[in-house]
Amino acid sequence: MTAANTIDHYAVLGHPIQHSMSPAIHAAFAAQTVQQLSYEAIDVAPADLIATFKQLPDEGFRGVNITVPHKEAAWAYAAQNGTLTERAAMAGAVNTLAWTANGLLADNTDGQGLLNDLQQRHGLDLANKRILVLGAGGATRGVVLPLLNAKPASLVIANRTPTRAGELADLFTPKAVTAGCLLHGCGLDALPQIISVTGAFDVVINATSASLGGEAIALPPGAISAEGFAYDMMYSKAPTAFLQAQSAAGIPHCADGLGMLVEQAAVAFALWRGVMPETQPVYNALREQLAQK
Ligand code: ATR
Repeated sequence: MTAANTIDHYAVLGHPIQHSMSPAIHAAFAAQTVQQLSYEAIDVAPADLIATFKQLPDEGFRGVNITVPHKEAAWAYAAQNGTLTERAAMAGAVNTLAWTANGLLADNTDGQGLLNDLQQRHGLDLANKRILVLGAGGATRGVVLPLLNAKPASLVIANRTPTRAGELADLFTPKAVTAGCLLHGCGLDALPQIISVTGAFDVVINATSASLGGEAIALPPGAISAEGFAYDMMYSKAPTAFLQAQSAAGIPHCADGLGMLVEQAAVAFALWRGVMPETQPVYNALREQLAQK
């Protein structure tokens, strides 16, 4: 057996996948923590996903990350064939699989990645804060439980289609009660009324896909407090349309989701390898790479 056959293999599965930064991130984590492993990007068409899950462990794969469009299908597979962490179960989507001695473990590290980015990189203390999350799709559902666990005073989910926000709020209400957090789902058009009654938000997180199309979600004036924080889960070379709008409105602290990308990867790496890598050098290198694109 050659050395290459004895190392553990990992991958990110998506469709398309060629622009994924995950191989570079995990290679950097492996080098930094002196872990012998390989990590590659594999393009898997939706019709081939289940067969790929069955085949990879036999080929020496110990884990995979899952990205668009497979996160929900991976959740369904893991629900049938393995164990879901609580945060993955509630997210309805999985971004990390680990084939362990005890079988298949499925996790969703996106929410913890967001929290680590907000709390550690950007120094935010979310306890007792008023948080607004824009959007009620998969990206939002993936982060609600970890956000609630940070014990904010309130969490408002506002969405273009109000019913989706209401459904998410209903789903997480028992967790919000436990966390002592007021959770509310509403339409974007209800925000002026909410702000006029309860005041500005401390933290606003854009979890919509609007930035992908270069669109900014319009927030009512005074939506974010004078010392508030605006965060976009998307990232790009130039500030996203959402962040540009918040900077122009005078919001002092704005950040994109590049840090979340690195942090969710670090939590997955720690799950697989038992060691938490240092994320800041990897974040710095990616930020520089992005600037040069
Ligand atoms: P993801 O998994 O990325 O969250 P999704 O489930 O398709 O993707 O959800 C996309 C989210 O972005 C939704 O909340 C969507 O609002 P709707 O539920 O009303 O469709 C929101 N979104 C996308 N483009 C938007 C836009 N231009 N303005 C406002 N919201 C937008």
